[in-house]
Amino acid sequence: MNLDERYPCIDDLARKAACRLPRFAHEYLIGGIGREAALARNRIALDAVHFDPCYLPEAPANRPDMTVELLGRHYDLPFGVSPVGLSGLMWPRAVEILAKAAKRANIPFGLSNFATTHMSDVAAIAAPNAWCQLYPACDPGIRSTMLDEIATAGYEVLVVTIDIPSATRRDRELRVGLSVPPRITPETFWQILTHPRWAFATALAGKPQFENILRYIPEGLSMAEKAAFLTGIVEGHVTQDTLRGIRERWRGKLVVKGIINARDAMVALDCGADAIWVSNHGARQLDANRTTVEALPSIRAAVGAKTAVIADSGPRTGLDIARMIALGADFVFLGRAFVYAVAALGRKGGDHAVHILREELRCAMAQIGCGSVRELPAFRPSDSPAAHNCPPRPARGVEPSPTLKVSVNCDQPVKPHS
Ligand SMILES: Cc1cc2nc3c(=O)[nH]c(=O)nc-3n(C[C@H](O)[C@H](O)[C@H](O)COP(=O)(O)O)c2cc1C
Repeated sequence: MNLDERYPCIDDLARKAACRLPRFAHEYLIGGIGREAALARNRIALDAVHFDPCYLPEAPANRPDMTVELLGRHYDLPFGVSPVGLSGLMWPRAVEILAKAAKRANIPFGLSNFATTHMSDVAAIAAPNAWCQLYPACDPGIRSTMLDEIATAGYEVLVVTIDIPSATRRDRELRVGLSVPPRITPETFWQILTHPRWAFATALAGKPQFENILRYIPEGLSMAEKAAFLTGIVEGHVTQDTLRGIRERWRGKLVVKGIINARDAMVALDCGADAIWVSNHGARQLDANRTTVEALPSIRAAVGAKTAVIADSGPRTGLDIARMIALGADFVFLGRAFVYAVAALGRKGGDHAVHILREELRCAMAQIGCGSVRELPAFRPSDSPAAHNCPPRPARGVEPSPTLKVSVNCDQPVKPHS
């Protein structure tokens, strides 16, 4: 089967995934919060980012340089796999499949705190490309033990997610009766029966479990109490003190994920973050949240050219990756796109998703006339609305020109970061 002919883009994989997944798993994966206005805006905002191509360049840009240095590592492509919890529910061994694909492509793989594979197994597959994501537990003892466990497993990059201050209420999940731990109702049983491929693969792999937090759940709890305990682990704001405490204990690189305005970006840097991950959590938390596209220019302007800025939420194509980089990101992650690919194609899914995104990005950059990803910001039309807040970005290590007028579009006053 020629995968390129059958599934030339991520949307084709998403359609195939919709057929292969039981409804409860599919709804969990695709869903946003509320009326899903933010989900729609993530797409609309990306589509509105345009380029000004150069068709008479000094040198040809047919083979653009897509490599990136990020957090002291060299990556072959400027994108990676976002942490997705419970991906083993969407397709058995999705974590392993994507971690292997990331390692082969030399891109980062984000392991969710709520993954269904143990962090040591993923480190064995994908270190040093594997990054470990953490929802800081409210209990400082559990938090410290988790941090030590991540360090012992050999991770170099810790991603602390800050944008889940409270348990969410997603209508799609409520409608299909999705719960933690999963309940088998007549409806879910029927969905499983009617998706035999998923059912068979899941039965072979075993019931998906939260492998990295199981050990913290006290013994003797009922299923409902276990569910309440899991919710309690992530419930509540990650305070600045918590972040500083993590910084003190964690010796590797620290990335703060879930930043959507310049004020939080500056606070995270002040607490010792090495990189900012701009995200609205794939529009799963707040339906009135800003999009990454809206937030990126002001965040880049505030943190300066030297700070590593990562972005996600919405991209489905290589062109989308170029768009986010043009707006100020150094690196782009994708969540659902990679899981669609695995749900559609099983173990071939990760490699095919990387292939699609790489080729789309290469074509987009060649068409724009851009020779390297760092030059993408220079190809935004100067009259585009998004361009007004984002200065063209010089090479890393070079400060923006002092003569450049930067209007920071942020609700709170920010001071530029040196
Ligand atoms: C089903 C699902 C589960 C997710 N679980 C986590 C998680 O455990 N930790 C986390 O930091 N982000 C989680 N995210 C958010 C992703 O890391 C990422 O921010 C988001 O998917 C990006 O948007 P995209 O799906 O449009 O690419 C999850 C997203 C989805 C869709």
